[in-house]
Amino acid sequence: MSALHRQDGDLHLESVRLADVARRFGTPCYVYSRAAIEASWRAFDEALAGTDHLVCYAVKANSNLAVLGVLAALGSGFDIVSGGELARVLAAGGRADRVIFSGVGKGEAEMRAALAAGIRCFNVESEPELERLDAVAGALGVRAPVSLRVNPDVDARTHPYISTGLKGNKFGIAHDRALAAYELAARLPNLEVTGVDCHIGSQILETAPLEEALERVLDLAAAVAARGIPLRHVDVGGGLGIRYREEEQAPDIRRWCETLARRVAGTGYGLVLEPGRAIVGNAGVLLATVEYLKLDKGKRFAIVDASMSELIRPALYEAWHDIVPLAAAAREEAEYDVVGPVCESSDVLGTARRLALAPGDGLAILSAGAYGMVMSSNYNSRPRPCEVMVDGARAVGVRARESVDSLFAGERTLD
Ligand code: LLP
Repeated sequence: MSALHRQDGDLHLESVRLADVARRFGTPCYVYSRAAIEASWRAFDEALAGTDHLVCYAVKANSNLAVLGVLAALGSGFDIVSGGELARVLAAGGRADRVIFSGVGKGEAEMRAALAAGIRCFNVESEPELERLDAVAGALGVRAPVSLRVNPDVDARTHPYISTGLKGNKFGIAHDRALAAYELAARLPNLEVTGVDCHIGSQILETAPLEEALERVLDLAAAVAARGIPLRHVDVGGGLGIRYREEEQAPDIRRWCETLARRVAGTGYGLVLEPGRAIVGNAGVLLATVEYLKLDKGKRFAIVDASMSELIRPALYEAWHDIVPLAAAAREEAEYDVVGPVCESSDVLGTARRLALAPGDGLAILSAGAYGMVMSSNYNSRPRPCEVMVDGARAVGVRARESVDSLFAGERTLD
């Protein structure tokens, strides 16, 4: 993580000592670096400078208003998947005409809100969705800009839960039905066909499958044009992976964008990208405090105050997140499973970690900026943690910790 470094033994994010953040805001607590978010977004944008392009940050990765606001100020576009995400983007100062709307199950109210806001494009995932969007746009007296998300049937070689580009998958329109779907879209009076879209999965560590998907999509765009339906843009989705552990090698953002730019040069297509994780993943950490050290069945457990309720990735995908102490301690290291207080054996944040720990120590769970807070829950009636953004030497609380009262404020007992 670029903005993360150790100074005199203390872990810092930008110029802020994370132990101070833990003390001031309490734990568990998510902390993001503004500089790291800006640097990765700019890496995409600058590498595509000579190409007509729009980097649409995938809001689902981290939808805190401060994150969206930082990106909106850079001129970012946004890839949304719900009316809720649209509302967040607009509240954070994002421009509606830079929003694209993805997702397999768009509701009518969501379509209406997006049309009323004037978004740039709907990424449509099925024929019935085309028909619904046509009807909703017609009722509003507008034309909806659409791009079809096609399923290129390419194996992203990532975790099956986050792989989306294979045939048996719920996402996108099957490649062999795509031409017919384009003809339907072109016939529907309230739609304007503008592009083609694909997204084959997430945390992709080799670019070969992404390149293969792009080739298939470009072939399709040519076939669509040959039927008299010219397309203006090609959306290559998101999915670029990040480095979670040292031995992992992640694709370089700039190099990937240069490959894309070279490939579309001369085609006349504008490029749309939907990166999420690559922008925020390594810009955030989750802070936790050690509650107990427990020696059990020959194993050592460090029980901390963060859990699968705050960060579900290790439990759900067996994902690896590095775990490091906030302050260097002159103690002996031992091997721990770092676990939370939730009543599930899967409530694990990391297994077999060599750490020098004592109760009360602060820890940082790294690479937690993407799919962390957004996937958190109130399981075991745990209030969601607070979020903090670091900007140079200041640490700003950008979301308050939930209160226990708020968890059941909408509930009631029977009379
Ligand atoms: N576009 C579409 C249509 C998507 O479905 C996704 C992610 C993205 C863009 C952004 O992908 P990224 O650049 O972040 O890889 N919860 C999982 C990841 C789920 C990804 C879902 N779709 C995780 O924690 O690994």
